[in-house]
Amino acid sequence: MKEIIRVTRQYRFCAAHRLHTDALPDDVNRKVFGKCNNPNGHGHNYTVFVTVTGEPDAVTGEVTDIEALDRLVTGKIVERFDHRHLNHDPAFRQLVTTGENLARVIWDELVNAVPAGRLDKVGLRETRDNYFEYRDTPPS
Ligand code: NI
Repeated sequence: MKEIIRVTRQYRFCAAHRLHTDALPDDVNRKVFGKCNNPNGHGHNYTVFVTVTGEPDAVTGEVTDIEALDRLVTGKIVERFDHRHLNHDPAFRQLVTTGENLARVIWDELVNAVPAGRLDKVGLRETRDNYFEYRDTPPS
């Protein structure tokens, strides 16, 4: 019998953003995004939850190499976004810096790079009350 386990690891970074799209006039931006459209931006203490799934290795009992995962996420996500303004990141040239889009950008960075196992889910806590989740549906 195949045993599937999910392992979740948390990472943190602080970043600024402004919810705004050039596709809409300024007054509509203000209406849609409210105070999050403030021209000076605002910041969040983000927590990223990276879930890797797979069968534990028969010898080590581990689904993935946590140290290698830490190096990957620290290098590709934390160091890239920590203490930056997300709107200035190339990934958001055409994308609003919503939690939805940020979760997807993080997924895209990690999906083909996890050390062992398969990326199952990226969770993103933005505020006490906001949590976003991105996962791909595997082709059936
Ligand atoms: Ni915000």
